[in-house]
Amino acid sequence: MTSVTSSTSVPTHTDGAGPAAAFAEPPLRAEGLTLAYDKTVVVEDLTVSVPRESFTVIIGPNGCGKSTLLRALARTMAPRSGRVLLDGEPITALRTKQVAKRIALLPQSPIAPEAITVGDLVARGRYPHQGLLRQWSPADEVAVRDALDATEVAGLRERLVSELSGGQRQRVWLAMALAQQTDLLLLDEPTTFLDIAHQLEVMDLCAHLHEQGRTLVAVLHDINQAARYATHLIAMKDGAVVAEGAPHDVITAERMADVFGLACRVVPDPETGTPMVVPARRGGHIRHA
Ligand SMILES: Nc1ncnc2c1ncn2[C@@H]1O[C@H](COP(=O)(O)OP(=O)(O)OP(=O)(O)O)[C@@H](O)[C@H]1O
Ligand SMILES: [Mg+2]
Repeated sequence: MTSVTSSTSVPTHTDGAGPAAAFAEPPLRAEGLTLAYDKTVVVEDLTVSVPRESFTVIIGPNGCGKSTLLRALARTMAPRSGRVLLDGEPITALRTKQVAKRIALLPQSPIAPEAITVGDLVARGRYPHQGLLRQWSPADEVAVRDALDATEVAGLRERLVSELSGGQRQRVWLAMALAQQTDLLLLDEPTTFLDIAHQLEVMDLCAHLHEQGRTLVAVLHDINQAARYATHLIAMKDGAVVAEGAPHDVITAERMADVFGLACRVVPDPETGTPMVVPARRGGHIRHA
């Protein structure tokens, strides 16, 4: 799943404040963000930046606001107050298609239209590139084929999405996000439902996209995978950022206790040297043969 051909290379964008100014800014930044569902405030006065060309990973317990933050960063959720800046410009100033050409979001629980095939769903990733005068083109076809190949679902192209396994479906959604060919990819638990080999393949694909110059933001629950792949780690708790930085600085036993209430040791991953969380044994639940 590592072969992403040159046709999926990062699109250059010329709009905005010019290359020098754009480079100085983080590509995505949230400032004083307050996010709420009806009257329930989930995130309050949160400020965070996604470093340019980083592979940023967000970790934190269930319900702490990770998906909510990702939605706001992708402009699919409007903040109660505060703002999101894309290359230093308020994201609300951009038209929907402009945003969609820059940011692809893989939601945590995407819902497919009924009776849609894999090929047609992935083709929807090309929507921001279509226009009144710009119909389906060979470039769109290549983008779809590359995305299907990169996620190893080309063989499923004619199948109905509703008839796939959870893991197959997850890779199809990832293909749709890839087909969008954005330089910013926001992935909410992209490895959910995947077996361990496919998890690592998706993570390797993400790392490959990152090496090509894309900026990735992924929510992950596997802390050890997060530590292996992230160049920048953000730990959230109760709707707030409690730590951010290099995996070595963020993943400590004290922080795991604070964020997850988890008693653990943090040891070097024998394979990579990155921090690895080893949970403490808990009273008598582990049976030995
Ligand atoms: N559509 C919604 N309407 C109302 N409340 C919501 C909605 N979506 C999320 N919430 C609430 O907002 C809070 C944060 O949810 P969010 O989905 O952002 O958490 P999360 O960190 O992504 O959790 P998980 O790890 O379980 O995916 C939770 O208390 C959740 O119940
Ligand atoms: Mg979530």
